[in-house]
Amino acid sequence: MKKILFTLILIFSLILIANPQVQPAQPPAGPPPGIQNQKPAAPDVFITTGTKSVDLIFRVNGRDGRLYQAYFGKKLANTESLKQSRDAGHPAYATFGTDNLFEPAIRAVHNDGNPSLELKYVSQSFETGTGGSSAVLNKILLKDPEYPFEVTLFIKTFPDEDVIEQWAEIKHTEKKPVTIYNYASSMLHFDAEQYWLTQFHGDWAEEMKMAESQLTAGIKILDTKLGTRAHMYQTPVFMLSLNGKSDEASGEVLAGTLGWSGNFRFLFEIDEKGSLRVISGINPFASEYSLEPGKIFKTPSMIFTYSAAGKGQASRNLHRWAQKYGVLDGTGSRLTLLNNWEATGFNFDEKKLTAILDETKLLGVDLFLLDDGWFANKYPRNNDRAGLGDWQENKAKLPNGLGYLVKEADNKGVKFGIWIEPEMVNPKSELYENHPDWILKLPNRPEHYYRNQLVLDLTNPKVQEFVFNTVDGMLTKNPGIAFIKWDCNRMMTNTYSPYLKDKQSHVYIDYVNNLYNILDRLRQKYPKLPIMLCSGGGGRVDYGALKYFTEFWASDNTDALERIYIQWGYSYFFPAVSVCNHVTSWGKQSLKFRTDVAMMGKMGFDIQVNEMTENELKFCQNAVTSYKRLNDVILHGDLYRIVSPYEENRAVMMYVNEAKSKAVLFGYILNARYGENFNRIRLQGLDPAKTYKIQEINVLTEGRRFGPSESGRSYTGDYLMNVGLNIGSATPLSSVVYEITE
Ligand code: GLA
Repeated sequence: MKKILFTLILIFSLILIANPQVQPAQPPAGPPPGIQNQKPAAPDVFITTGTKSVDLIFRVNGRDGRLYQAYFGKKLANTESLKQSRDAGHPAYATFGTDNLFEPAIRAVHNDGNPSLELKYVSQSFETGTGGSSAVLNKILLKDPEYPFEVTLFIKTFPDEDVIEQWAEIKHTEKKPVTIYNYASSMLHFDAEQYWLTQFHGDWAEEMKMAESQLTAGIKILDTKLGTRAHMYQTPVFMLSLNGKSDEASGEVLAGTLGWSGNFRFLFEIDEKGSLRVISGINPFASEYSLEPGKIFKTPSMIFTYSAAGKGQASRNLHRWAQKYGVLDGTGSRLTLLNNWEATGFNFDEKKLTAILDETKLLGVDLFLLDDGWFANKYPRNNDRAGLGDWQENKAKLPNGLGYLVKEADNKGVKFGIWIEPEMVNPKSELYENHPDWILKLPNRPEHYYRNQLVLDLTNPKVQEFVFNTVDGMLTKNPGIAFIKWDCNRMMTNTYSPYLKDKQSHVYIDYVNNLYNILDRLRQKYPKLPIMLCSGGGGRVDYGALKYFTEFWASDNTDALERIYIQWGYSYFFPAVSVCNHVTSWGKQSLKFRTDVAMMGKMGFDIQVNEMTENELKFCQNAVTSYKRLNDVILHGDLYRIVSPYEENRAVMMYVNEAKSKAVLFGYILNARYGENFNRIRLQGLDPAKTYKIQEINVLTEGRRFGPSESGRSYTGDYLMNVGLNIGSATPLSSVVYEITE
């Protein structure tokens, strides 16, 4: 057996050397001390992956056959010196059980009880042009020499966007199932003087609070264990600055995000030599997975970009990538809308809604979005205590059904959208009465509610069918439905799947994969229908979900002052085209301030139009018109964060189109203390040689409250970027929006 294995390895090595994509290394200058008497090692093999400005280089060490990360960072002029280096690098996908002393990327217990895993390099290959993109998909196969257990590392590089996507596939053909305890998507290593971690955490209505701290020796973990609404406290994103803090325009930064809508974990471990390993993937907590022989365990994608020019560039890289590959129809346009959640709550009927359809038209937006409260009869959905799961129109509120509203909307020249929360159930519902076994809940324990509801057991194929049919049935019956808001209002607690029986530790993973299966099926049938992802606000914001969704609801908090910080936070990782912002009456700021804030992404309204004064209505109508003219720049342009609300009583950001012929600048005075000076700000991203005209939009029809206006002036890009504009005002909570045109 050993002989056969040895021959196989020899053949593999020969294939490797013959493969033109694999460049054998120069032999090292001489063996390091202590190994003089060992037999000569095979030559090292280098595998270079990367983008236009970044290299991620692996080395197969000829001495031990293992795969190492030899380099990750700014593109090297050439890799010859790297090949000369005696330092193999750091393990590319560290295992547990043999000689690894730190956190592993993977841990498995073989079917014979052997708790160790050894992974040796076998082969590599690559594909280009996957999905019509310029991406390169590199595959590196690793195998345990003693057990039929293998891991394929996938490294997909997007050259133009400077983004890398990494994931792993784990497989075995042992006689019985093998339990895997850790299964990272990626493992990256850094050797820097200092490491500064920026994290984004929060809670309902206070999402994406940004905090930066220096990492010290040992482990720091960012994770979630909430299962559903998984990102309520912690979004699966981080920025890591190397060798010191970075700012918007300078410093070395890694920006990373996991495409997974369930439990995730980012683990940062600094070892005794000051090296940092970053292990990203599904949170292995309470999630050991029994892998059947022949089945593939595919991890979600870790998506990351490296910028040598600060956080701004890192965000722009991710935005460009997300528009093309990360968000459904990310390069497309979006529908402006009027929503009724904050305006009416559950309290509406057909007559009221018909009037709102008229207001939708009056406002000039594209669509009316009917929120929660339209369904259930035995236990009507008149509050959040009943009805979830019974997706039939409530006869008292909508005697003529959704069909009537869809038709009415069409008659009035607007589109119609609808809210659903198909993964959930209220105990007070017919669904609960008829299918108590379709629900995640523990035996021998009282039920535990959050927002008076429970989570359906998506691991059960019958439940999957129910969720698919709920959405598909509604769309088949009402083909005029032009938009969906898909909500998910609770996390998992007392988690137990009646369907999974003795495999309870699979529930967090299987839930998410089955949710994706349902979304896959829906997207095959309705490929472009706009669907807003909502989870009590931003409880499920990640690129695993966003490939099925056109946009997400960033937060239930629509107070415009709070919203500046929340949208600021999301802007580090998610493009404006995906972030839904509504003008509401939650905050006490002026209508202008609230409208300006909502305009920074996908704009909507959730406000009582019939209570507006004539002037207010006119202002909003004009804002909608301006937005329709400018939304391409805002939704798809390059974002420059110029003044951070975390650093000043002011926030300024701007979007610039690719041709640098049009930009939109948003400026906000959050507070203005007596005598406070706001310095001129220098614009970014323009063409110095071009001359731009500044035009203020969203101008108040009465009583302007912002400091001296630059409107009507023309400046060169050179002037705007070196001398700058006055974006200051003595009025707290005032704002300005400039349209900047070549
Ligand atoms: C969640 C959403 C809100 C609204 C309500 C309806 O809280 O975040 O926008 O849709 O549900 O119940």
